[in-house]
Amino acid sequence: MRILALNSSPRSGGQSKTELMLNRLIQGMCDAGAEVEVVNLREKKIRNCIGCFTCWSKTPGRCIHKDDMAKELFPKWLESDMVVYATPLYNYAMNATLKAFIERTLPSLEPFFNVHGGRMFHPLRYKNPAVVVLSVAGMPDEGHFSALSAHVNYLFAAPGRQLIAEIYRPAAETMTLPFFKEKLNDILDATTQAGRELVQSMKISSKTMEKIRQPIADSNNFAELGNVFWKTCIAEGVTPKEFGKKNIAPRPDSIKSFLLFFPFGLNSEAVGDKKVILQFHFSGEVKDSCYFIIDKGNIDGKTGTMEKPDISIETTFDMWIDIMTGKADGQQMFMEQKYKVDGDLSLLIQLFQKESGH
Ligand SMILES: Cc1cc2nc3c(=O)[nH]c(=O)nc-3n(C[C@H](O)[C@H](O)[C@H](O)COP(=O)(O)O)c2cc1C
Repeated sequence: MRILALNSSPRSGGQSKTELMLNRLIQGMCDAGAEVEVVNLREKKIRNCIGCFTCWSKTPGRCIHKDDMAKELFPKWLESDMVVYATPLYNYAMNATLKAFIERTLPSLEPFFNVHGGRMFHPLRYKNPAVVVLSVAGMPDEGHFSALSAHVNYLFAAPGRQLIAEIYRPAAETMTLPFFKEKLNDILDATTQAGRELVQSMKISSKTMEKIRQPIADSNNFAELGNVFWKTCIAEGVTPKEFGKKNIAPRPDSIKSFLLFFPFGLNSEAVGDKKVILQFHFSGEVKDSCYFIIDKGNIDGKTGTMEKPDISIETTFDMWIDIMTGKADGQQMFMEQKYKVDGDLSLLIQLFQKESGH
């Protein structure tokens, strides 16, 4: 089976979630014995269709443009048994790069009008490959894909055209955060499995689809995580790509976001089977208390006060966040009495071993 995988994301180098998902889908397709060619559309010259209908009149089946689409991609597309259209979701739709590609497949139709099942179609001039649509979105709700899904279902419903699978991955930017490592692996493994299934049976099982679509975080936590991320980008004057490259730590600005982010700097394994209660009393702009229960690798954080904590820390919220995000040195701030620790100091040091380095 010959498969053409078209990636329309402008991003690459580990930043693109379209690429991440597509690579795993392709891996599964190759495992199952398919011959897959990947084309990054961002590297190709594809002019917009100019609506001249030359391909329907003067040179039937041949486009007036002489670019990468006409010379290289359209012939490859025609020779394929299956095409994967992989696109980031932009404004609830496929992006303009992919749309330009699909518009340029017009020479594969004839100009005539056929009626089938109450709908009017242009008949196919050439056999079209079976279609798989893969899309990723920033937002967590699947509803964001509904316009794209409606579009491709209508578009590829014409006789001779075949939409065999739609793979939609919401919360795609969030799924790569270290918080969701296990879920990400599960999603990517399922995507590889989807690739195998597509080659073996031209469809994806509902079990595999469920894994690919699984929720990442509830919408409250999602918004909190996202808002802290973007506020930190703005405060540091960096793009998301630079944020990743410079290894910048997101800066919580409320107890709620602190509860979400703090556990990721903790080395819960370092305290073994010991159950540890870590209490914070904050002053300054965020005056509040919260605690974390660290038990067998699990960390559960809540606002309020816990009786008999193993460690209790008193400081301004800003000071602790400076330490947490690497803007201040934890040991030095301790010497300068910028925070006060009651309880087992060695346990605290253990908790910050390796992971945070403070
Ligand atoms: C111009 C633009 C429009 C976008 N529109 C949406 C949208 O409608 N819904 C959504 O959930 N995410 C939207 N996003 C977020 C992208 O879908 C998300 O960042 C995705 O991971 C991008 O794919 P990539 O990682 O392969 O580049 C948009 C991003 C851009 C740049």
